Amino acid sequence: MAKKRADVVIIGSGVAGLMTAHLLADEMNVILITKSNVESSNSSWAQGGMAAALGENDDWKQHFKDTILAGVNHHNEHHVEILVKKAPAVVKLLEDLGVQFDHKDDGSILLGMEGAHSQRRIVHSNGDKTGQAFTKALIEAVQDRVTLLEETMVKRLLLLKGKVVGVQTENDYIFARATVLATGGLGQLYSHTSNVTEATGDGFALAYRAGAVLKDMEFIQFHPTLFIQNGESFGLISEAVRGEGGYLVNEKSEKIMNWHPLKDLASRDVVSRTIFEQMQDGKRVFLDCRAISNIAERFPGLVQRCEKAKIDIATSPLPVAPGAHFISGGIKTDAAGQTSVFGLYAVGEVACTGVHGSNRLASNSLLEGMVFAEGVANAVSQIPARPIQQQYDNVEVIVSDKLPSRLAIQQQMTRYVGINRSEVGLVKMKQWLEPLMLSALTISEGDTRSIIEIKNMLITAWLVTEAALTRTESRGGHKRLDYPKSNDHDWLNVYIELSRNGKYVTT
Ligand code: SIN
Repeated sequence: MAKKRADVVIIGSGVAGLMTAHLLADEMNVILITKSNVESSNSSWAQGGMAAALGENDDWKQHFKDTILAGVNHHNEHHVEILVKKAPAVVKLLEDLGVQFDHKDDGSILLGMEGAHSQRRIVHSNGDKTGQAFTKALIEAVQDRVTLLEETMVKRLLLLKGKVVGVQTENDYIFARATVLATGGLGQLYSHTSNVTEATGDGFALAYRAGAVLKDMEFIQFHPTLFIQNGESFGLISEAVRGEGGYLVNEKSEKIMNWHPLKDLASRDVVSRTIFEQMQDGKRVFLDCRAISNIAERFPGLVQRCEKAKIDIATSPLPVAPGAHFISGGIKTDAAGQTSVFGLYAVGEVACTGVHGSNRLASNSLLEGMVFAEGVANAVSQIPARPIQQQYDNVEVIVSDKLPSRLAIQQQMTRYVGINRSEVGLVKMKQWLEPLMLSALTISEGDTRSIIEIKNMLITAWLVTEAALTRTESRGGHKRLDYPKSNDHDWLNVYIELSRNGKYVTT
């Protein structure tokens, strides 16, 4: 195994990792690792855009309020304030990097509407190809300034006396002053997801094995409208489509969101659950987009996917189902991305800064990744250099027991830890996972990439299950059928934190 050295090693090539790399690259020697290619990430698939209070009648306070309402009062409000106040500056930074936001004829930025926003405030680029535009600009900004290691799996974090000092990949030991996890989410734990195939919860598992604290892992957001025809997925249909006049109907053409005051733009957990309940009653659900006059121009990516699915969007509603989209919790960090383990930082979806509460507001995720990348970059640039580390805590090498398949994990999670949960199902899931945990906690030298992914999925599944079992109420992305209401008396501002040292219920 070769030994390499960097000032910073960043794992993940979504906007959070790329922006951190961009902000550090002039000062530091940065290695950015991705297990696939640099263009493949949930960020690059993002369609709706990024929230920023730029409208005439808008301001950061209204963006703040909408964020808190969607996440049902479970936030770090100081961090939310940082998030919403910095949004206009992120738009400017992206423009400086060459991102062309969609504009009105008068030259002002065109603002889209999404669920649970009280104002039009979603900036977008190239219609519904916003994520691609952001990641392309950031890749161009960093590609000649950082060392990119593509198709490289991180096996584990290197620990020296309880501090993270770098990573072990399939080929190298890479020692660094700071290690930044920007690995995204966990959608692949579920049967239907909007996430890329790489989203196997790797960062949560790496951090947990290294002793970091994870927080709010029970809050999984299911996006209401995955485009699913005859079991085959044609990707996500952006909430912005409902923002422009699309609406949900069942097969009897009944508008299923009419019961809610915000109709089709209610928060995602509410819309997803309504669709799920219709489907449980044996009804199919469709998104009717026929009223959107400029659909080809506004949503070119969706129109292309409709062609692939052989559906004429101008005449036929699109079949939809909810799917795992985003985790609001993650590795506990401060505003500088510092985790509970020295030397280890986290940013983007894998981190829990507390800005999403129990349910993320639409289009706050690209924003979070880029706002808190600045905090990470500032903190990391202050860390003094230290000599190359040759030693690290070794993990025990044991032969892996027989592990379940990716499909089996997805089926179990969807059944027992999905949109609706209950103690009986969560206990079943925990009992299924427990005998596998010793294997999942240990990465053996001979483990292949797919075995490591399965182990990472098992650890992440256990974290979500344990947190979901502990929270005996419903809030945001966590719905317990046996505790169907939010219980502010026992659970308001109460957080579930998990680490290898145990479980803490904190305030
Ligand atoms: C969407 O366009 O509906 C997804 C964007 C987001 O999750 O914020």
